[in-house]
Amino acid sequence: MIEDIEVEWILNDLLDFYGYDFSNYSRASLKRRITRLMTMDRFPSFAEFRYRVRMDPDYLKRFVEEITVTVTEMFRDPHFYKSLRTEVVPTLGAKPFIRVWHAGCATGEEVYSMAILLKEAGLLHKSLLYATDLNPGVLEKARHGIFPMAPMKLYSENYIESGGLEDFSAYYTARYDQVKFDESLGEKMIFSTHNLVSDRSFNEFDLILCRNVLIYFDKDLQERVLNLFDESMGQLGYLALGSKETLNFSAIRQKYKQLNREKIWRKIG
Ligand SMILES: C[S@@+](CC[C@H](N)C(=O)[O-])C[C@H]1O[C@@H](n2cnc3c(N)ncnc32)[C@H](O)[C@@H]1O
Repeated sequence: MIEDIEVEWILNDLLDFYGYDFSNYSRASLKRRITRLMTMDRFPSFAEFRYRVRMDPDYLKRFVEEITVTVTEMFRDPHFYKSLRTEVVPTLGAKPFIRVWHAGCATGEEVYSMAILLKEAGLLHKSLLYATDLNPGVLEKARHGIFPMAPMKLYSENYIESGGLEDFSAYYTARYDQVKFDESLGEKMIFSTHNLVSDRSFNEFDLILCRNVLIYFDKDLQERVLNLFDESMGQLGYLALGSKETLNFSAIRQKYKQLNREKIWRKIG
């Protein structure tokens, strides 16, 4: 394990040299991941690792990809998607145009799940799904709509548990050990880098999903990001967080009403 002070040095370098601000990320996770990266890439000393991060922008890309946790799943927490399907999506149907923001979308499995829900509700044609992440590497994968074949059985079960009635495999074409999702799903997606720490609001949304991202941030940064979502939220819009995340501690809480026991809030104020 590297020392606490070494983590701080790396974080300062990232800010000074590249403008990446990880200073409000949970230290335990950062420390574990930096140590893992140093071991994987066989750096003989911390000094050499630090030099490489400072001097090699290509290595910085690798650093960001390894430091951020990008684990994701289609229809992750199926009961959450069931609530989206039965309680949120039908109310969005009344709008002439639906704007959704997936903040911290990773490789896009969440965005494809949402597109399937909207398609099944007959609303995809009037929707736009903005999908952002700070990590350009994952966005590149998300743009192609190509996913590994191995987890498709689990995703299909998740889909059915979320209330899906179609044949899930009809949404993709399998090729060797990969699947490509139907292009009609991807047509309504816009992928772009956006850093929740430093970038501003860029539109007004009817639904913002930021699931399993805030858990890596300290409370101050969570509050700042929740305020960013509040600024970006249209009237009566919805905010969806991950199963271990909440806005209960936040100053914006009073403007929102929780839908049910799921992590979905509606802006009423
Ligand atoms: C664990 S994944 C969550 C993926 C998906 N939302 C889900 O719940 O399955 C967390 C994602 O947040 C992204 N992330 C971390 N810090 C970020 C930041 N400051 N701005 C934007 N995205 C960030 C990571 O790159 C990663 O892709």
